Amino acid sequence: LPTCLVTGSNRGIGLEFVRQYAADGWRVIAACRTPVAAHALEATAGDIHIHALEVRDPARIRQLAAVLARESIDLLINNAGIGERPTPGIGGLDPVRWMDILQVNTIAPVLVAEAFFDHVAASQGRKIVAVTSRMSSIAGNTTGSSYAYRSSKAGLNMAYRSLSHDGRKRGIAVGLLNPGHVRTDMGGSSAPVAVDDSVAGMRRVIANLDLENTGRLWSYDGTELDW
Ligand SMILES: NC(=O)c1ccc[n+]([C@@H]2O[C@H](COP(=O)([O-])OP(=O)(O)OC[C@H]3O[C@@H](n4cnc5c(N)ncnc54)[C@H](OP(=O)(O)O)[C@@H]3O)[C@@H](O)[C@H]2O)c1
Repeated sequence: LPTCLVTGSNRGIGLEFVRQYAADGWRVIAACRTPVAAHALEATAGDIHIHALEVRDPARIRQLAAVLARESIDLLINNAGIGERPTPGIGGLDPVRWMDILQVNTIAPVLVAEAFFDHVAASQGRKIVAVTSRMSSIAGNTTGSSYAYRSSKAGLNMAYRSLSHDGRKRGIAVGLLNPGHVRTDMGGSSAPVAVDDSVAGMRRVIANLDLENTGRLWSYDGTELDW
């Protein structure tokens, strides 16, 4: 059965990816910052292997890739991300916070993909995805604000578009996924989309991902989004 690796797997969308793939019988490598505190993940049934991963730490990313050197990974899911609350506007921008958001949302998913490129290339499935956001869309930005979050996810999209070209040479398909506005800690309790529906939808998009449609931006409902 296939193997997937999920970052930010201790809560929210990442935890639900673990639950659903494990329930389908996949071997799941669940990466999270603080395994000792990952009680919901611990309690999840299935063939689940928990590893510590703070995605802001490039040395740790490479170290985990080395520890897992013999694993072939059919599907790499870069899910870990941070939001921006409060969302300062002109007059209140915080460059240190912005850099932190870029580190987690833009740079880390690319470094994780780079570190695990060979693991994915060695698998049958050969897919790498990142959870981006509708707010990444430049065409869709009709309301402004969220300078840091929007730019971090737009940058992620561009980097993953490049990754799709490098991936093609190794038979790896790359996808960018908008989960919708989901009821998680980040999305808030009044968000319209349930986490299980969001993840079920993204899993359908992932199942349809191939070298013909690599490097594109998809919503969880299967519709393609404008950049
Ligand atoms: N919820 C929405 O409506 C929505 C909409 C669009 C896009 N998204 C995207 O979906 C993804 C998951 O969001 P969510 O709603 O599940 O958010 P969440 O409930 O806040 O969970 C975020 C996850 O990312 C992890 N994480 C954050 N910083 C990390 C770091 N430096 N190293 C390792 N892990 C880190 C968190 O771990 P800790 O518990 O250790 O903090 C947690 O597991 C994010 O990329 C987010 O931008 C969400």
